[in-house]
Amino acid sequence: MIKLAKAAIGPDEMAQIQRVFDVGWLGMGVQTLEFETAVKEYLGAGHVIAVNTGTSALHLSLACLGIGPGDEVIVPSLTYVASFQAIAMTGATPVSCESDPETLLIDLDDAEKRLSPRTKAVMPVHYAGQPCDMRRLLSWREKYGLRVVEDAAHAFGSFYGGAKVGSFGDVTCFSFDSIKIITCGEGGVIATNDAELADAARNARLLGVDRESEFRYKNERKWFYDVPCQGYRYHLSNINAAIGLAQLAKLGEFIERRREICLHYDRAFQPLERIRTIKVDYSTISPFAYIIRVESDLRDEFMNWMKARQIETGIHYLPNHWHSMFRREGESLPVADRLGREIVTLPLHSRLTNDEVDAVIEAVTNFHNEID
Ligand SMILES: Cc1ncc(COP(=O)(O)O)c(C=O)c1O
Repeated sequence: MIKLAKAAIGPDEMAQIQRVFDVGWLGMGVQTLEFETAVKEYLGAGHVIAVNTGTSALHLSLACLGIGPGDEVIVPSLTYVASFQAIAMTGATPVSCESDPETLLIDLDDAEKRLSPRTKAVMPVHYAGQPCDMRRLLSWREKYGLRVVEDAAHAFGSFYGGAKVGSFGDVTCFSFDSIKIITCGEGGVIATNDAELADAARNARLLGVDRESEFRYKNERKWFYDVPCQGYRYHLSNINAAIGLAQLAKLGEFIERRREICLHYDRAFQPLERIRTIKVDYSTISPFAYIIRVESDLRDEFMNWMKARQIETGIHYLPNHWHSMFRREGESLPVADRLGREIVTLPLHSRLTNDEVDAVIEAVTNFHNEID
């Protein structure tokens, strides 16, 4: 089977994990600090806080910004359910908006129409690694007093206007789960230039225990402490951080290979009139997924066709306003509805061989020619 996604892990990751085993401090500690520092240097961000998942990064950011019951957060319906659940965890309401059908990025004209006096934040999703229109989004801080919590789960290593995503925004959340461009096994970080938020998030990730991070960073604990705020069990373990450290060293190589595959797919699919590709400038992004659109009544057939040829495909994602938890009375999202029926994800990971890429291209082309 040609896999949709796969972590590129091996002896380098094992060697880093061995360092943790040799010392025997498995939880948050020295490696967590090393990883945080390495990510901070890589991004050029003011502050980086490592957590156990990207979902935790999103929830912790929103919670530390004081977003809660009665508040609304605008988010594109076309995103992973993690974005919606992170908002819901605070007690706030996720308000779905549309995505641009050409790029699959948040449609800011539509988002703006859905703002209300209860809107406290907007959560753009840098879908498949492409950055959203951050200039316009950040102007909403001034214009509407909104916080911008970027869901950058897909975009570690992507650039926007010459600057790295995570270096210039309000709050940026990354994921390092097992299929992201680099992985910690499971993990995530918050990157921000807001010192107050960083301080709050650092305490809240360890059950609200005051300044506990300073001790854990040295593989130590303290026994006398105060708990001044609500906290969560969201810290990143030394084992997960160790995997991330080995992965970070290879990020450039991973990005290059993924770009190469995406460009190859783009060139091959360009002549296929009934297969739509997404408009992406791969030269400045860290590609997470390669998505095409097929006519909705052909999608099941297409996915089965690929499966019969030992090629895994996926759907990133079902629109969240389709889910019973997030559906809201009277809302209309015709573009997201259509995208939800048409999108299909093709295999993309840094260990994909040229032969596998060619096999995917051949299967897609043959399907296209068959329907024609
Ligand atoms: C768009 C998006 N947001 C958030 C997340 C959550 O990240 P994690 O799986 O690390 O919790 C993911 C990861 O799958 C994602 O794809």
